Amino acid sequence: MKKKSVLVLASVMALGLSSVQVATASKNPEKRCKACHNFTAKNKVGPGLLGVFGRKAGTMAGFKYSKSLASADWVWDEEHLRKWIKNSKKAIKEFTGDKKAKTKMPKQNMKGKKADKIIAFLKELK
Ligand code: HEC
Repeated sequence: MKKKSVLVLASVMALGLSSVQVATASKNPEKRCKACHNFTAKNKVGPGLLGVFGRKAGTMAGFKYSKSLASADWVWDEEHLRKWIKNSKKAIKEFTGDKKAKTKMPKQNMKGKKADKIIAFLKELK
């Protein structure tokens, strides 16, 4: 009897913890981007994202972009960003019109409310 309630308690605690983690992750989905990006002008694994909204793609000073991004001709608006954070590998092909185009940024699979939050966040990042 005692053992059982300890077990139940442990699983409730585990559940509680994971739902807290999920809640913070969806509250700040852009945290995920921080593994590779600074939200400043400083480059990291990826280019610094300060002012990225409205900026021409592939133009952050000092960052070594892949060929496809370095020769990009689009500006980061809502539509482009939405496709990019969902699946950059697919988006780069669509944006360039080149089926062989590649990017170094892995697919993030961010969509729906999470994508809305990230885009709103990037918009404010000036
Ligand atoms: C695993 C590392 C990694 C993660 C995680 C990541 N990125 Fe990137 N990102 C990159 C790299 C590398 C590039 C440059 C790609 C290239 O040159 O092909 C890039 C490029 C970009 C660009 C183009 C910037 C420019 O100057 O044209 C945007 C916008 C961007 N990332 C947004 C995001 C957002 C938003 C997230 C979070 C949802 C994110 N990235 C998560 C690595 C990452």
